[in-house]
Amino acid sequence: MKILVLAGGDSAEREVSLASGRAITKSLQRLGHSVSVIDPASGETLLGQDGKFLLDKDTESSSRIALKPTNTGALAAVLNTDDYNDADIIFLGLHGGTGEDGTIQALLDLAGKKYTGSSMLASAISMNKDIAKRILKAEDILTPDWMLVKRSKYADLQALHSEVLNRFSPPFIVKPNNGGSTVGLTLVKDKQTLADAFRNAFDVTSEVLVEEYIKGREITAAVLDGKVLPLVEIVPANELYDYQCKYTKDESEYICPAKIPGGAARRIQEMAGIAFETIGCSGVARVDFILNDRNKPHFLEVNTLPGMTELSLVPMAAKEAGIGFDDLMQRLCELAIKK
Ligand SMILES: Nc1ncnc2c1ncn2[C@@H]1O[C@H](COP(=O)(O)OP(=O)(O)O)[C@@H](O)[C@H]1O
Ligand SMILES: [Mg+2]
Repeated sequence: MKILVLAGGDSAEREVSLASGRAITKSLQRLGHSVSVIDPASGETLLGQDGKFLLDKDTESSSRIALKPTNTGALAAVLNTDDYNDADIIFLGLHGGTGEDGTIQALLDLAGKKYTGSSMLASAISMNKDIAKRILKAEDILTPDWMLVKRSKYADLQALHSEVLNRFSPPFIVKPNNGGSTVGLTLVKDKQTLADAFRNAFDVTSEVLVEEYIKGREITAAVLDGKVLPLVEIVPANELYDYQCKYTKDESEYICPAKIPGGAARRIQEMAGIAFETIGCSGVARVDFILNDRNKPHFLEVNTLPGMTELSLVPMAAKEAGIGFDDLMQRLCELAIKK
């Protein structure tokens, strides 16, 4: 197949995306596909003359790629390249922002291009935690109690604080409604820190969730084409599974299959399947849960473009199910073609 990988992008998760993009590219090359890679934030190719990913330390030209995007909005230029026009599918190695929220998916739909992962609508719903929670609550999926705060309310901080503190008492979570990688998220332990928490979250987005804090174990479920893969328990090195834990090697412990009571595991698998199906996801998605100390799973969010380095959670769960990294990449390509 001729495949164009998109990686990088201008979201807060750019660096993670470059890491996923590199792993995806190497795998697709091993599989014998004809692969090109473009960063939609710069419009530039990420493959050197030698076919190696430019960020590889062993590649001479590594300095060419800026970790900060150089030319935001360069996506239109991508659509004029031969790499794009000749591609049988677009493999999305992007995370967060317009790469994961349905925007790029809509553009590719309009252009009649096939791509990996979820549709425009499923991507948009999943990226909006408030809407995803509403939809799944209606399907009897337990999710922490929450309140959506729009930026307009932020103008009267005093009123906002009293409204929040009327409904929630610390500890509770304040996080961007459409963020990722735990960027802009705060565990509010006393009300003095509420103003800082809102500032952090509103720095990232214009809609913020205040959410009941569920103390418990962190479980994530990868769903591949509707089938739930073995569960992974994340034991974060920090109090929350934050950005540092997520992307620093050896910071956290990952247990797959998760060693949790059978009833809880079955319920999480059921909930993950319902989430994938109800939201209408395709390809692979990852559903995050917290299992409270009475073994009740609470749904947090769906990730439609989860991390895809060889050490990421979806590849880990796939491996436990007997699906190696290359097999997983091949499956995603085939599912994209079938769409
Ligand atoms: N309501 C909550 N209760 C307990 N921990 C939470 C809650 N919401 C988020 N967290 C913690 O923060 C992490 C990131 O939150 P999440 O909602 O998955 O957003 P994202 O991964 O998109 O940044 C979770 O993995 C968990 O460790
Ligand atoms: Mg998450």
